Amino acid sequence: LPEVKRYLWSVKDVKQTMPKRVSHSHKGKHGKGVMAGGSYYMPGSIAMAARAALRSGTGLLTIATAESIIPSVTSYVQEATFSGLAEKEGMITGQATPELSKYDGAAIGMGLGRHEEAGGLVLHMLQECKGPLLIDADGLYALKSMLNALKNRSLPTVLTPHPGEFAYLTGVPIQEILQSPFRLSREFASAYGVHLVLKGPYTIITAPDGEQRVDMTGNAGLAKGGSGDVLSGVLFGMMLQSENILNALSNGCVIHGSTADFLIQEEHSKTDLLASDLVEGLSRTFRTFS
Ligand code: APR
Ligand code: MG
Repeated sequence: LPEVKRYLWSVKDVKQTMPKRVSHSHKGKHGKGVMAGGSYYMPGSIAMAARAALRSGTGLLTIATAESIIPSVTSYVQEATFSGLAEKEGMITGQATPELSKYDGAAIGMGLGRHEEAGGLVLHMLQECKGPLLIDADGLYALKSMLNALKNRSLPTVLTPHPGEFAYLTGVPIQEILQSPFRLSREFASAYGVHLVLKGPYTIITAPDGEQRVDMTGNAGLAKGGSGDVLSGVLFGMMLQSENILNALSNGCVIHGSTADFLIQEEHSKTDLLASDLVEGLSRTFRTFS
């Protein structure tokens, strides 16, 4: 077996590798992204992911979501533009899709819902996205039936499952995932040529070549609906601003977890911390890290 390169990614590494915002910068230099997801019953997921992507430095962000929730999402994410997608039963279907060639990268899945036609949108993203693509949550659910399409993509693809989602994708029981998360992550990342972010009390980031980073930041205040959506937004923002996807993902995970750690030392507790607090808390983390 090849030697395993595995490294604990720390705040020091983040400070050394974070892209700097130079004084002559303009918004076109910080990534133009499109994020697809959200449904009538889960508008908060896409809203928090989008706001987190913007707080993480994204230059321009379009939210592609179910038409019916645009008014509620826009009230929380005033800086984004919108692309309204066709919906059935409050969920996005694959009927209408954004023009992907206009964007540097895409993210899909947060609050998407599980309408059977949403798979068409995920496949379209895999085939047409001209930059890095992040797939999370219900996007991973849809991906299960089209895993082979991952192998046809030459551009970076990032999957961000929690252990339950990884068990679903691989067909391996969750107990085995929890017993051998490093080995199973490497097998999957190399088999499908993806970057894999396996979330949990510690998070394992694996590159397609098997290199692994471990993020030990964060706390049980994150064990609450929505924190994964905020992570997806931070990761997407980092991916849009760095050529080095493994560094972008490692940095995003440490930024997300460290924000939760700051917040429970200062104004919050593990009990009351909300995902939306994390989004605002990112400001404090970025001021310290960059
Ligand atoms: N310690 C440190 N970090 C933690 C802990 C913990 N005890 N518990 C959770 N986290 C972190 C994880 O590492 C991850 O970054 O919080 C985040 C949780 O992400 P998710 O598991 O995706 O949780 P959530 O935001 O609730 O996702 C909700 O995902 O599973 C789907 O269908 C579900 O749409 C829903 C969405
Ligand atoms: Mg999640």
